[in-house]
Order: sequence, then C-alpha cells, then structure tokens
Amino acid sequence: MSVLETRDLRTYYSLVNSVVYAVDGVSFDIEAGETFGLAGESGCGKTTVAKSIMKILSDNGYIAGGKILIDGEDIVPLSEEDIKKVRWRKVSMIFQYAMNAFNPVLKVGDQIAEILFEKEGYSKDEAYDRVRELFSMVELEPSRIYDYPHEFSRGMRQRAIIAQALALNPRLLIADEPVTALDVVTQGKIIKLLKKLQRELNLAILFITHDLSVIAEVSDRVGIMYAGNLVEVGDVVRVFKEPLHPYTAKLIGAFPSIIGEKKRLEFIPGAPPDLSSPPPGCKFHPRCPYAKDICRKEKPVLREVKKDHLSACHFSGELDL
Ligand SMILES: Nc1ncnc2c1ncn2[C@@H]1O[C@H](COP(=O)(O)OP(=O)(O)OP(=O)(O)O)[C@@H](O)[C@H]1O
Ligand SMILES: [Mg+2]
Repeated sequence: MSVLETRDLRTYYSLVNSVVYAVDGVSFDIEAGETFGLAGESGCGKTTVAKSIMKILSDNGYIAGGKILIDGEDIVPLSEEDIKKVRWRKVSMIFQYAMNAFNPVLKVGDQIAEILFEKEGYSKDEAYDRVRELFSMVELEPSRIYDYPHEFSRGMRQRAIIAQALALNPRLLIADEPVTALDVVTQGKIIKLLKKLQRELNLAILFITHDLSVIAEVSDRVGIMYAGNLVEVGDVVRVFKEPLHPYTAKLIGAFPSIIGEKKRLEFIPGAPPDLSSPPPGCKFHPRCPYAKDICRKEKPVLREVKKDHLSACHFSGELDL
C-alpha cells in the first residue's frame, strides 16, 4: 500500500468576490522509501497540495473534493482532533521559508524538546535525549542543542528543521523548497542528508521545488504541475529525457543545467493564468505552440501515454517535443 495517495484532490481559496482554484483535481501516490518530486512555476499550487495533506490551510482555504489517503486512511473527513494523530506523527513537513522558523531568543534544542515534553508526554530527560539523537541523525554535534539559532549557519538551521520534522517518526516527509535558500554546496549536502535519512527510515518524501535541476537530482518519480493540475507524471529520467507534455518540454528547455549543451535557453511565452478564472479546455493552451481547436474546448485528462508515464495533453505521443 502506498504511504500517500491523493485522488482528484481539489483545494480552493475563497476571496471576497471570487474563488481561487489553486489545486483542481490532483492525483498521485508515493511509496515508502520513494521520493516524489513536485515541480512547476510559482503559483501553480505546490504548497497548496502540501498544506492540504497536512490539513493546515489558511482560513479561507478548503478542500472542496477528493481524497488524501495516508496508509490507506482518507484524512479529508477527519476532525481537527483526529487529524492530530496524523499530523507530525505520520506526515510531517518542512515549510517553505522555514529558515527563520526558530524563535531567535530560545535555544534550538529547547524548542524541539519542548514539543516532546509538553505535547508528547516525554520526561525532560527523555526529550533531551531524543533531541540529541535527532541531532546526530542530521549530523549536527549533539552538544549544539544548547546553541541559539543565530549561532547556526543556514545549512545547520535547515538540518535542525529536518530534525524537528522527524521528531515523531513520520512515514511521509513533505519538504517544500527545502534547499532553495541555500548555496549550491550546502544544497548538495542537505540533499545527501535527506537521501541518507530516507534510506535509514524508509521515508516517503514529497519534495517540492520550482528548481528542475534539484528535482532531477533527488526524485525517483516526478509530477509536473501547471495551474492547479498535474500535467505529467513519471519516472524522473524518462520525464526529463522524453517529456510527453509541451509544458514539461518548455520547462526543461528553460533549465540549462539539465539540457546540458543545448545552445539556446528557451523561455515560455506568456504567463500562467489567473487561477480564479482559468482558461477553458487545456489551461496551457494560450501558451502552447501546438494548441488546436480541441485544446481550447476540452480539458485533457491525465492518462497513461506510455507505461507508467502519464500526460495530460490531447496530443501526447504525437508531438515531436
Ligand atoms: N490564502 C490564500 N488566499 C488566496 N489565494 C491563495 C492563498 N494562498 C495561495 N493562494 C493562491 O493559490 C495559488 C497557488 O499557490 P501556492 O502557494 O500553492 O503555489 P506554489 O506553487 O507553492 O508557488 P511558489 O512556487 O511561489 O511557492 C496561487 O495562485 C496563489 O496566489
Ligand atoms: Mg510554494
């Protein structure tokens, strides 16, 4: 059984005069020990997927439909009381912009230990032992638990954030842009650490980033998101080598480090749509060089075009991308 399965997930935000269809029918799954990369331009709904799975949407956000199965249990209908048994325990998250998540006037170790003895029934000694253990897991000196956040480099702070996310032994770790604010060398170290932890703990990881070169490095499978929908899902190497969706092909073309020696950087004309009034049919059609009549009228479904390689384009498999 998959650790996570989303089925036709729809998450919307209500505004005074409109609704933002931020996630509009997203289905994917992640196995234990697997990293699923979720990529796409800013505003396409990646963080909204993550916050839906944690059930920590802002007040105006709500799950309008679909299922989120964690170890086979649909958490969408759960009450706030029941979701507490899942959140942080089965599913944990490293937040986008988490770098400054620690309170600057409290010691890092105290902040992690406090959760354990205040909410989890650990004695103080047990809590600090666990924090030391977590620090060694993320390759921080256990003695550093008595340091303040400002005494940590950015890389060390991100390690501490990972330690905190793993405190209650989750099965699924959602990492939302976990290396975006780091320099390339530190990025590499954090990615290596996440891979090590994944092996040791058999973690399922949902790795979110807009950076395709990072996605290529960390993922087993990827989902490419556009305007609230997955447009392509498959094995990372196959998606990057033989993309089936024009949007994926354009996105890859915009990342020189992935395409290697390609002469010219591509850019995608136009901008992503306003998600409160997306275009009819395929939401990518206004920017797609291959768009035909049907694309303006009929919404393409995500379908298996090649084995285990899905795409949501009317012409997938017919285009020379
Ligand atoms: N609280 C909110 N109220 C209204 N709209 C929102 C809210 N939060 C997010 N949105 C909108 O929902 C859409 C998806 O946002 P989301 O943060 O999920 O995107 P993202 O892919 O994570 O972007 P980024 O790469 O910039 O982090 C965007 O159009 C965004 O403006
Ligand atoms: Mg985001």
